[in-house]
Order: sequence, then structure tokens, then C-alpha cells
Amino acid sequence: MSEQLIEVVDQAGIVTLTINRPKALNALNSAVLTELDRLLGELQAREGLRAVLITGAGEKAFVAGADIAEMRDKTPEEARCFARQALATFKRLETLPVPTVALVNGFCLGGGCELALACDWAVASDNAIFGQPEVLLGVIPGFGGTQRLPRRVGPSMALDLCTTGRKVDAAEALRIGLVNRVMAQSELPAYVEELTKQLGGNGPAAVRAAKQAIHDGMDQDLESALALETSLFALCFAGDEQPEGMSAFVDKRKPNF
Ligand code: HXC
Repeated sequence: MSEQLIEVVDQAGIVTLTINRPKALNALNSAVLTELDRLLGELQAREGLRAVLITGAGEKAFVAGADIAEMRDKTPEEARCFARQALATFKRLETLPVPTVALVNGFCLGGGCELALACDWAVASDNAIFGQPEVLLGVIPGFGGTQRLPRRVGPSMALDLCTTGRKVDAAEALRIGLVNRVMAQSELPAYVEELTKQLGGNGPAAVRAAKQAIHDGMDQDLESALALETSLFALCFAGDEQPEGMSAFVDKRKPNF
């Protein structure tokens, strides 16, 4: 790999961002966060974008946390700024109009776990290790972990993880719903291929509408959220994907979206 802090690969609109600080287990420092924010800003407006995947360079870590050496001497005000910088960047990631997936290929701790939680879903290699070990450092999660983790795994499990700081292996991460799938590390590239094929074959506007319905609906009461779904469902019938998709089914051929 070159010296870029984040490597970018675009395969038919499936963009993979690889955090590239393997010597520091891809720890998130200000420079990485700034670069991630810049890249996400570019992606927000990219035509033909189908999905964004995030992973870490090397075979040992996804992201082992925020950079502890950089954080050590921060004042409370500097810590607040650092957390806000990450929160804004993670919000950008979360609100991208396409599916976002964390490919967790090793240690996924602290800010790394919070980065994975800001993605729509996560898949893990079988050597992945998760945790929110901030209390071992005398702090708490500051990149959204106390809020996104309970929404993913429930408040009781989130309290367990955030107050003990214990580590969770891939099998447990799957069991508690922190990740959707576990595979051997060597199988991650094949998963990217599979996803590229699946998402590439689906109507891109429908995929975006599904994400919007779920994300925006989660912040609303059920009745309002169901009304949102109805609006987005009806809107699908105003585009050119629905006639093509349904005609293809009736004609017994593959749709061409
Ligand atoms: C800075 C880190 C780092 C981190 C690892 N490194 N994690 N540097 N910040 N979070 C560096 C090490 O200092 C070391 O550098 C190199 O990466 C390899 O790590 P080792 O510890 O030698 O590897 P190993 O013995 O295999 O242990 C792996 C590990 C351990 C278990 C993942 O590195 C570890 O516990 N890291 C910290 C995990 C953590 O506490 N994360 C949460 C951070 S707080 P050298 O130069 O010595 O080779 C956080 C808060 C977010 O994320 C919110 C903030 C607002």
C-alpha cells in the first residue's frame, strides 16, 4: 500500500475505504478523521454510488480505537473538539444515501467499534475482537458508542460492554447482533464481490429508498414511520425502476436497472 492515510477503491460504484495506519493498528487520529471526512463529503455527491465499505489495512486490525497517544495530553475542551470532529464525520457516514458496511478484519476497539456502529451493518472475520475498553483508560466512549451500541445490541449488553470494558470475540459479536455475518479473513474479498453483484443487480433508487425508510423511520413513532414507508413506496412507482423490475419478472428475464 502507498502512504495514503485512507486507500480508496471504486468497483462499479461499491467504494471501499481502507484506513491505512497498520503500524498503529489503524488508530484514528485527527489526520485520519479529517481525511475520512473529506472523502465522505466527496462520496455524498458521487453519482452512481452503490455502497461504501470500510475496513482496516493489514491482517491484525480494523481500527484499534482513537489514537491514545494523541489524546493523552488533551484538555477537556480539546477532548470535546476531538469527539465533535469524529461525531460529525460519523454522522456523514451514517447519512450517506447508500448502504454502508464495516468489514471488520481484526481488532475493533473503542473508536473503531464506534466507527463500525456508524455503518449500516458489519461483517467480521473470525479473528475479530470487539470492545469498548475506554473505562480501562479512565474515560467513556466519545465517538457515539454509548448511544449507537445500545441501539444495536440493547441497553443491558451495552452497559455490560461499556462498564466492564471486556472484549468480545466474533462468535459473541454475531450472537448479540453487533455483526451480521462472520467469515474467515480470507473470505472477505469474496464477500465484497458478492455484495457488488447483489447491490449491482438491484434498482439503485429502490436501495436508497429502503435505507431512507429504515433510517428516518427509526427516529419516528410507528404510525408516522409507516406513513413515510407508504410515501417512499409510492414514489418508487414514479421512477423507471419499478416498470422495468416488474416487467422483467413477468417476461421471465433479468431486470436491467
Ligand atoms: C494509538 C495504538 C492504539 C491506539 C494500538 N496502538 N492501539 N496507538 N492508539 N488506540 C499501537 C501500539 O501503541 C503499538 O505501537 C502498535 O499499535 C501495536 O500495538 P500493540 O499493543 O503492540 O499490539 P498487541 O500487543 O497485539 O495488542 C493489540 C491491542 C492493543 C490489544 C489492540 O494495542 C490495545 O489494547 N490497544 C488499545 C485499544 C484501546 O484501548 N482502544 C480504545 C482507545 S480509546 P508501537 O509504536 O508500540 O509499535 C477510544 C476512545 C474513543 O477509542 C472516543 C474518544 C473521544
